[in-house]
Amino acid sequence: MADFDLVIRNGTVVTAADTARCDIGVKDGTIRALGERLPAGQRDIEAAGKLVLPGGVDSHCHIEQKSSSGILCADDFYSATVSAAFGGTTTVIPFAAQHRGQSLRQVVRDYHAAAEPKAVIDYAFHLIISDPTQQVLGQELPALIRDGYTSFKVYMTYDLLKLDDHQMLDILALARREGAFVMVHAENHDMIRWLAARLLEHGHGAPRYHAVSHASLAEGEATGRAISLAALVDVPILIVHVSAPEAIDAIRAAQTRGLKIFGETCPQYLFLTAADIDRPGVEGAKFCCSPPPRDEAAQEAVWRGLVNGTFQVFSSDHAPYRFDASGKLPRGDKTSFKEMANGVPGIELRLPLLFSEGVGKGRLDLQQFVALTATNHAKLYGLHPRKGTIAVGADADIAIWDPERRVRVTSAALHDSVGYTPYEGREITGWPVTVLSRGRIVVEDGTLHAARGSGAFLRCASPPAARPLGRPAAEIARLAAFGDAAIF
Ligand code: URP
Ligand code: ZN
Ligand code: ZN
Repeated sequence: MADFDLVIRNGTVVTAADTARCDIGVKDGTIRALGERLPAGQRDIEAAGKLVLPGGVDSHCHIEQKSSSGILCADDFYSATVSAAFGGTTTVIPFAAQHRGQSLRQVVRDYHAAAEPKAVIDYAFHLIISDPTQQVLGQELPALIRDGYTSFKVYMTYDLLKLDDHQMLDILALARREGAFVMVHAENHDMIRWLAARLLEHGHGAPRYHAVSHASLAEGEATGRAISLAALVDVPILIVHVSAPEAIDAIRAAQTRGLKIFGETCPQYLFLTAADIDRPGVEGAKFCCSPPPRDEAAQEAVWRGLVNGTFQVFSSDHAPYRFDASGKLPRGDKTSFKEMANGVPGIELRLPLLFSEGVGKGRLDLQQFVALTATNHAKLYGLHPRKGTIAVGADADIAIWDPERRVRVTSAALHDSVGYTPYEGREITGWPVTVLSRGRIVVEDGTLHAARGSGAFLRCASPPAARPLGRPAAEIARLAAFGDAAIF
């Protein structure tokens, strides 16, 4: 009887810390041994010449979610997780999204009911808080945090999601008290609203004006404000899907001041620009997301932020909407940029794109690649060391990469249900050829082997990243000196 269920042999094993030539022994879904010449398993996979990486963790994706204007994502938990797996991702953290008037607890039940029968890889949930009532703040959120939903996203824009600064402070103070982690969509709502109204008044409804209305300055202003709000109550935050140089500068400056401000960016800000949105007719709608892709200087700033550590996580922000009346084009080719669902697909190509352009072109080393696509996500959201690394005791979530494999992207070859990809025709070098989730082969040689519903729900621990620095802003500290510190 073999000691191991599976041995991955002779590969180059890469983690966020090291690269080593060794075998990996797997039993009962976890990694049991790393070493040379391990005894044969019930099955051996030969990985000579291949890279053996932790499966990706995609901590920002929208799956089977209804937008605030009622448009349903194209992907359900089956197609999204299959697509993720084919791209080397083995854990997803989508959102359980509250719309105004909804009980958060009921929202979470609904997302579980959707995910459980369909997911083929493991998943956790962030919460989206759009209605921070007394019931939500006082009871539902603290209980949900204790149950393993330890991160939530808040929006500074979108009519039906936006929180005002007062509500943001309530949420941030609660996160501090309860040990949760807040993700912020930072764009100045009134700047966008004002610009959009002026543009539409003048008949500028084409997709390209989406990028004009979601100005860089609007992203920079809101990012700075979110950082100030977080600093006031001394709580770490993550600014999600960052695209503007102004926002990157604000995050870096805050980090330099010693604040625990984290940053996330996404493929669309490295591989698309506003010129993609400026395509004839409504074609540009396929590239509309918020914040939008910007110019080449902004792309370079995003690359710099990845290289110099301003960004800790590289997520897909997969927000899949079909290019028809059910998604991007509710009024066909008459649809204005204000009526289009915002978001682009990218759950399958997130890792291959970054590998090819980042590692392949020498901008990132393999350790940075693994940290940005897997390890840091698991750490930030309380899933490490079970997820995001290759270590004894970790789940055997592994992607075996052929670093030489060349692939020309076509939407037809992807596994989502969107019907197009913004990256059509790109040449990619490096591709995950075998993907394991808890030791099970999920994808091998282009074939899916996982059953619907075989993915498991993951409870997140209170993330160490969410721990306050313990030094509230000076005004609060002065109040505390008068014995009045319990204001949050
Ligand atoms: O345009 C985007 N990013 N849509 C998805 C929703 C969000 O704000 O992340
Ligand atoms: Zn967002
Ligand atoms: Zn998103």
